[in-house]
Amino acid sequence: MTPLLKLQNFKLRYGAVQAVRGIDIEIRKGEIVALLGANGAGKSSTMKGIAGLEPVAEGRVLFDGRDITDLPPEEIPSAGLTLSPEGRRVFGTLTVADNLRMGAYTITDKAAIETALRRVFDLFPILEERQGQYAGTLSGGQQQMLAIGRALMCNPRLLLLDEPSLGLAPLIVEQVFALISTLRDQGVTILLVEQNVAGALAIADRAYLMASGRIIREGSAAEMRSAGAMADSYLGGH
Ligand SMILES: Nc1ncnc2c1ncn2[C@@H]1O[C@H](COP(=O)(O)OP(=O)(O)O)[C@@H](O)[C@H]1O
Ligand SMILES: [Mg+2]
Repeated sequence: MTPLLKLQNFKLRYGAVQAVRGIDIEIRKGEIVALLGANGAGKSSTMKGIAGLEPVAEGRVLFDGRDITDLPPEEIPSAGLTLSPEGRRVFGTLTVADNLRMGAYTITDKAAIETALRRVFDLFPILEERQGQYAGTLSGGQQQMLAIGRALMCNPRLLLLDEPSLGLAPLIVEQVFALISTLRDQGVTILLVEQNVAGALAIADRAYLMASGRIIREGSAAEMRSAGAMADSYLGGH
């Protein structure tokens, strides 16, 4: 079966900084795949390269067999994937509902936008309650839900989540991980970048471990949970 996402010898650089040095990743339909690694390993750069937000220096990004390596960022959502970026960038001076509608910019049919909105409100009842409120007045956890909700508004088949649990209270972190599992059960395939290794491996099927721009280990979540598998990259890796 064609993988939903395939990175082949994927490289990304910022001037002289080689952020990603040729990685190969495959994600099958229906999986949650975790991309792990210490600060600076190249995880966010990988996500941005897939989403078209940074140019890929070398290698290919294949989405369901289609080469999307050089698509401009605004065309990536219509191809079927969206990124919820690190640091949950919601528009603080727009309402919750307007933030969500902005996520549906690839959809021109009004009824389809309302259907997508209904689905997000069913997943996140708090967003429906707060729909008329400015996003800037939401708690951190609610803003994270809004950021994920916005990414879901164009009905992606693949959702890229960059550090969704960062800076959230433990109880909210649990809710975010539970939500990610629910999304997968609804048929959304997920690439999850996390510093919360235990939380990510508890819901992931497989994981890749990055260090200094390379994949240094990959395996099933169970294999990666074994203590030795993760130690190298985190010991003094910061
Ligand atoms: N906009 C940028 N300009 C220059 N260097 C960058 C930029 N963004 C990230 N880097 C560098 O690229 C490397 C990978 O960063 P990043 O992908 O953000 O790692 P991670 O998400 O794993 O913490 C780091 O060395 C970082 O300093
Ligand atoms: Mg990052």
